Amino acid sequence: MANAHSPHSPGIFAITKLKLFVLVSLSFTWWFASNLPHYKPMIRAGIKSRIDEARQKIPTIKVDWAQETSTDPRDAYNSSKVALLIEPRPLPHLVPQILHMISVVPPDWRFVFIGSNLSVVTVARAYATKHQQVIGKLDLMVLPEPWEIESKEKVYRLLTDMRFYDEFLPGVEWLLKYESDSILCANSEESLNDWLDWHWAGAPRTPDDRFSGNGGLSLRRVSAIRRVLNFQARYNNTQPEDEWFGTRVYILPGAKVASGSDGMLAVEDVYKENAMGFHVRNGGTQLADAVWKDRKQRQAIFNYCPELSLIMDMKLERERCPGDDKEGEIHPTAEEKAAEAAKQAEEQRRKAEAEARRKAAEAAEAAKTAAVVNGTAVPGADAEEEEEVEEESPEGEDSED
Ligand SMILES: *[C@@H]1O[C@H](CO)[C@@H](O)[C@H](O)[C@H]1NC(C)=O
Ligand SMILES: *[C@@H]1O[C@H](CO)[C@@H](O)[C@H](O)[C@H]1NC(C)=O
Ligand SMILES: *[C@@H]1O[C@H](CO)[C@@H](O)[C@H](O)[C@H]1NC(C)=O
Ligand SMILES: *[C@@H]1O[C@H](CO)[C@@H](O)[C@H](O)[C@H]1NC(C)=O
Repeated sequence: MANAHSPHSPGIFAITKLKLFVLVSLSFTWWFASNLPHYKPMIRAGIKSRIDEARQKIPTIKVDWAQETSTDPRDAYNSSKVALLIEPRPLPHLVPQILHMISVVPPDWRFVFIGSNLSVVTVARAYATKHQQVIGKLDLMVLPEPWEIESKEKVYRLLTDMRFYDEFLPGVEWLLKYESDSILCANSEESLNDWLDWHWAGAPRTPDDRFSGNGGLSLRRVSAIRRVLNFQARYNNTQPEDEWFGTRVYILPGAKVASGSDGMLAVEDVYKENAMGFHVRNGGTQLADAVWKDRKQRQAIFNYCPELSLIMDMKLERERCPGDDKEGEIHPTAEEKAAEAAKQAEEQRRKAEAEARRKAAEAAEAAKTAAVVNGTAVPGADAEEEEEVEEESPEGEDSED
């Protein structure tokens, strides 16, 4: 900077202490930055090998779980209780949803997430879920061929196949099955462990449903499932698995199966205050009116179970359309009503005018027709024709001549 005042001196090429310092610190920064890119591939490799690990573990899971004298962190939990989520789509809310469920379900339960390559990466890359994996709380799985989960029907086939329980859920007796659109409420005073004597508990479809087993959020005893699968097989492309099991579990001797509001674990089509949880069918796009339509009831639900906002698409109150009656219908506002009335009056005026014009034209037309019929000469076209005839005749006379 000492040279800055003299434009003709060597100026910028002169070596000063400051420039040296800048050069050195820049080199250091570049050297430091050049080390950073290595960081990213390391993380990517980490994710990749984690999936590979999950995939490789699958055949040996049975062995892992049955081991008595290992230091497997999974031993810290009760291996007969598993909360299961099957989801092939990489939904952005899976991580918070799973973490919430982990915090609400009693601590001795384990969690299993079965996904596609994509959804498992989505869940696995969060540090919080990595931690849950490390402490043995959560398993992420991509099922090997020929198992498939890409459609509901494929999941039904999986859940009604004894081999699935043998291979992937060995030793599991209590299965909490939840979906990407179901949630347990932290405010519930009940514990999932209060429900262990039920063989099947879920949500009723009607208040006096014979079998309250709607499977979106339901607790099942695998022993009951095995008893059913021992004597029955589901035909492909028939009932959903929960309905299919329902009609069969219901008649199992000695099975304690939810019916009506008795054994109602979750709210889906039928409302119950302070329920353990909710299943909002298809992510809340098919909400039951009996539960959600009434504004006060809805407010009560969200006050009781605010975590519903994790799994539901929501809008801000101020994003409401004007005239929204908050029960699913949009009524016109006062201004819109006035505008509509004015528009109608204008429309009527225009119609009356058009009608008058049409009548006048009709009358004129009628008069003209009547005149023609009466043979009265109408000046215009007829007159011209006559003239033409007149012109022709002299010509004819000429040719004759
Ligand atoms: C797991 O939980 C069940 C039901 O509460 C209990 O009967 C069983 O003893 C528990 N198993 C272990 C290993 O703690
Ligand atoms: C999942 O990844 C494995 C290994 O990379 C691959 O063999 C398999 O085809 C993938 N599955 C899907 C559905 O892309
Ligand atoms: C049902 O579909 C599976 C393939 O997903 C197939 O292996 C099985 O044989 C089918 N069952 C029947 C009864 O057709
Ligand atoms: C046509 O003739 C009828 C009866 O011949 C008569 O009543 C009517 O007024 C006439 N109309 C006009 C336009 O002259």
